[in-house]
Amino acid sequence: MRFKRAVVASLAVAAWAGLGAAAPAQPAPANHLMPMPASVTLDAGSLPLDARFAVKLEGPADPRLARAAGRLIDRLTTLTGIPIVRTGGVPALTVVCARRATGAQRAVEDESYSLRVTPGGAVLRAPTTYGALRGLETFAQLVEQVPGGFAVQASTIEDRPRFPWRGLLIDACRHWMPVEVVERNLDAMAAVKLNVLHWHLSDDQGFRVQSRVFPRLQGKGSDGHFYTQAEVRDIVRYAADRGIRVVPEFDMPAHTQSWLVGYPALSAGKGPFELARTWGVFDPVLDPTSERVYAFLGRFIAEMTVLFPDAYFHIGGDEVNGVQWDANPAIVAFRKRHGMATNDDLQAYFNRRVARILKAHGKTMIGWDEVLHEGLPKGAVVQSWRGQKSLADAARAGFGAILSNGYYLDYMWPASRHYAVDPLGKDAAALPDEAKARILGGEACMWAEWVTPETIDSRIWPRMAAIAERFWSPATVTDTADMYRRLAVVSRQLEATGVRQRLDHEPMLDRLANDGPTGSLGRLVDLLEPVKEYNRGRGAGITSLMPLVGVVDAARPESNAGRAFGLRVDALLADPAREAGREQMADTLRRWQDDARAVKGEMGGPLLRDAAPLADAWQSVAEIGLRALDAFARRAPLTLTADEEQALAAAQKPVADVSLAVAPAVKRLVDASR
Ligand code: ACM
Repeated sequence: MRFKRAVVASLAVAAWAGLGAAAPAQPAPANHLMPMPASVTLDAGSLPLDARFAVKLEGPADPRLARAAGRLIDRLTTLTGIPIVRTGGVPALTVVCARRATGAQRAVEDESYSLRVTPGGAVLRAPTTYGALRGLETFAQLVEQVPGGFAVQASTIEDRPRFPWRGLLIDACRHWMPVEVVERNLDAMAAVKLNVLHWHLSDDQGFRVQSRVFPRLQGKGSDGHFYTQAEVRDIVRYAADRGIRVVPEFDMPAHTQSWLVGYPALSAGKGPFELARTWGVFDPVLDPTSERVYAFLGRFIAEMTVLFPDAYFHIGGDEVNGVQWDANPAIVAFRKRHGMATNDDLQAYFNRRVARILKAHGKTMIGWDEVLHEGLPKGAVVQSWRGQKSLADAARAGFGAILSNGYYLDYMWPASRHYAVDPLGKDAAALPDEAKARILGGEACMWAEWVTPETIDSRIWPRMAAIAERFWSPATVTDTADMYRRLAVVSRQLEATGVRQRLDHEPMLDRLANDGPTGSLGRLVDLLEPVKEYNRGRGAGITSLMPLVGVVDAARPESNAGRAFGLRVDALLADPAREAGREQMADTLRRWQDDARAVKGEMGGPLLRDAAPLADAWQSVAEIGLRALDAFARRAPLTLTADEEQALAAAQKPVADVSLAVAPAVKRLVDASR
């Protein structure tokens, strides 16, 4: 893919420069599309963008496309500052959509499109509304600054997704996420061609949807934080307008503590119950032997399936620890009576009962990979979170399968690590084609134990865009450096959709600094990363009621400055003769020394007390790094003092749940200089 693109792009430049002329010295144009289309060639020139820009729609009237065109104009105005009005103007982009998609969006739709941009105009063609929506997003990403203004890069694009199911899970339970959080993330999802919002709506910490049939669900199970039915309908409509399905998850039979606060009779164990204020795997669980439970679920699911038009309904099914089932003699007797050897068998029985209820409402069941068990009803979809093996097993056994393992955004992994995970990687790669075809795609998961409305966007974006590329683009699109190059641009563009991953950062620094100066503090935070996976909050006494306003919350999951420094160190170690790289690195280290000294004056606020040792660590790393660089240049072996060794080791360790992202690179430099 990249080969073709590079060749065609340089041919175009050569043709433009004049037949037979030597290729000009200027670099071939590079696009910053994300996800990368299936096929793209960049052509010479660009379509100027000015205040008269207008979109012309051809084909059957489609109000959804008309609204999308309006949003495109608003976005272009935000991105460029050009006051484009929504009416009048001169059509510069013609959208030819053959068929208006109606009814609930299905799991597999034709989302293909072609887009041709020339200096004289652009034409977007698509067989359905979905393809046209995706193509409009591509068009927006082609806008770039040119001398004298903005223009759309001339290009020829043929595009279609690799996987039909490209999702993001938003957990509204562990921390409450108001409507605007969901809506702005839907806009950003659409911008990178995601098409499923997996909405995690109930868990031990909260039940987040209004039920009229069982009002104690939200009445006692939500602290007052729940979506009204009108709000659910609005969000479903908002998503559908952007070509995004909403798959609700009501996690059961475990993760149901919030249900049991209001309806303790559904429980396998004794109440009373309270909302969980911490997280993990808890014992409270529904009683799978109780007809009362199935009667309840029958009425509850009947109510919810009206609210959620999608054909799929997620029942969770994860992390049933079985403690309360084993402790209940009636449940143990039931298991024996029905010849069930294990609690897994009992859960499978529960799943079959629930699947039957869902089927009566025309819904297909999805569950986490724990549901993959003998007797799982045909047609069910398995979402693999515990590994890739269950994905392949599910597909082999005839089930649709979705990969989430490797896409947990709350792990705070760098984008590159998620990017390297492929839904058809490892185990699934060996499947026969007909089983491979059952792998529908993937979903990234934004579990909300450690995020609030203020920080969730920076935990989703921009890394989600790299994962979206994995789900959409050809499997051959794997150049990590090029991904990061484009991600930097797309992250900025995404803010025009309303997400706040960059906008919310400065206010967080101001709060940390008690409204004092934040210059050096900001540069320190730029070099920090939250501890990875589930290593945060190991201290005692942490609850979901605490505000998440520390340094760890201001730090981004991935430090761009840290990554850049690490790359420079590695380049230097690979090519020690490169003097330019050394000088640049020395400049950086000297600036860190100054900043580390200055930041101590900015760390007086009470929210920064725990993080104070980071300033010393930063200073040590800068000083030791300079010494190592000097020794490296002179090829004189470096010997650190005992104090320096200790400081360098300390700098590798997390403080206040954050790590100094540049410490490992400085250690590599030191080790190479010894
Ligand atoms: C899960 O992370 N328990 C699905």
